[in-house]
Amino acid sequence: MPESIVRPPGPQGRRFLRSPLLSGAGPLVNLPRMFALYGDTSFWQFLHISTYFFEHPDDVESVLVTRHRSFTKGLGTRANPELFGNGLLTSEGEFWLRQRRLSQPAFHRTRIAAYADIMAREADRMLGTWRDGQQLDIHREMMQTTLAIATRTLFGVDLGTKMPIVAEAMDAFIRQNAGLSVWRLFFKLPTPRRMRFLRGVRELDEIVYAIIRERRSGGMGEDLLSDFLRAQDEDGRSMTDKQLRDEVMTMLLAGHETTALALSWAWFLLATHLDEQAKLYEELDRVLGGRLPSALDVPQLAFTNRIVRETLRLYPPAWVMSRRAAEDVEIGGYTVPAGSNVIVSQWVTHRDGRFFPNPQSFDPERWTPDNEQALPKFAYFPFGGGPRVCIGNQFALMEAVILLASVAQRYQITMVPGSTVEPMPSITLRPANGVHVRLRRW
Ligand code: HEM
Repeated sequence: MPESIVRPPGPQGRRFLRSPLLSGAGPLVNLPRMFALYGDTSFWQFLHISTYFFEHPDDVESVLVTRHRSFTKGLGTRANPELFGNGLLTSEGEFWLRQRRLSQPAFHRTRIAAYADIMAREADRMLGTWRDGQQLDIHREMMQTTLAIATRTLFGVDLGTKMPIVAEAMDAFIRQNAGLSVWRLFFKLPTPRRMRFLRGVRELDEIVYAIIRERRSGGMGEDLLSDFLRAQDEDGRSMTDKQLRDEVMTMLLAGHETTALALSWAWFLLATHLDEQAKLYEELDRVLGGRLPSALDVPQLAFTNRIVRETLRLYPPAWVMSRRAAEDVEIGGYTVPAGSNVIVSQWVTHRDGRFFPNPQSFDPERWTPDNEQALPKFAYFPFGGGPRVCIGNQFALMEAVILLASVAQRYQITMVPGSTVEPMPSITLRPANGVHVRLRRW
């Protein structure tokens, strides 16, 4: 690094060894500690890797929006090429833009409204298997139902008995990335955990290729996979099977895991705040009166929407995002040299007391239109921002409200006595051992 470049504060010299990032407490404790110690911008050098951390919303906006051209996706996104290949989450440049445009119609408002019926019916199907007084891992239930919704809406297929294979592979993937250890990104040793992950990738590959075959032979419909299959270059070339596989795999995984997590965290928060749950029930009873929610109901369910927003603030499923500077770029008054890594974290910024008074408390009422308008734009960014903003954000919000409403109008959810919920930071923010709840019919 040239002498003239001024670095932000951060652990150096002897303090490096006591750096929060090396402590065993894990990133959910260490990242906020970095910001508490060094302020809105900090810097960490590990071997040849330079990393800049930005907490302030203005700097988050610079990284994701105003200066986005100076960045490519970062280490976190590129750490699992076996799984995502060159799909929408990981691809770059012109190629990414073409694929993004191809994917866009499936996420148009009118199509999402049409998905709402499938979402409500899947919720109803899940509820049909539940019983008053039962104890269950509601995280597992949410994973299964959001997976069924993703495959039926986006690919027009039913996975049936193959669902548990996807869940198992997803679990292996998350556990292999748990802690986001710097070591694991570079040294891919054939540990049992990694072997389990690679076996999961092979099994998922089989499922994804079977989905593609089924759609090809079953005729086209109004879904994302049909759009992909119909797409042709100007010179008449279609997407290769490998590219189709990467896009389908990306949507299959990105399209259910995160929404299931948002819901799991919402159940945890509601089960530990029964007064808020009672308010939720009151709204659902008033607006729905016992029937299944539809797309038209979603905007009427103001408090339900606030619960989703507040959950995504406190437990953002995408809790950290990384970028790599493709050229020297100025952010927050510092020059970030080409090749450096940049980290912004929803987990940290969403819990910043300057923007969210009493930031650790669960308070859905903070999401009044006035409060929301007063927030700096990137104080809250559960879906990222700029050109790489989550393509499924409206899909996810609709799905979260419909599932939350379907369940909460029928059951009161309380924690199983003695059970605890631990956040496990990986590529996403998961409850390490699920969320074990008891159901009680209202
Ligand atoms: C609560 C649920 C969700 C959360 C919190 C979430 C979060 C995010 C975030 C933060 C990004 C940006 C990553 C980055 O810029 O590095 C992203 C991208 C993406 N998300 Fe989501 N997501 C959710 C649901 C969904 C759903 C339902 C789908 C698909 C049906 C989806 C598909 C994608 C895809 C394909 C990208 C990459 C977009 C691109 O780069 O063009 N996500 N998501």
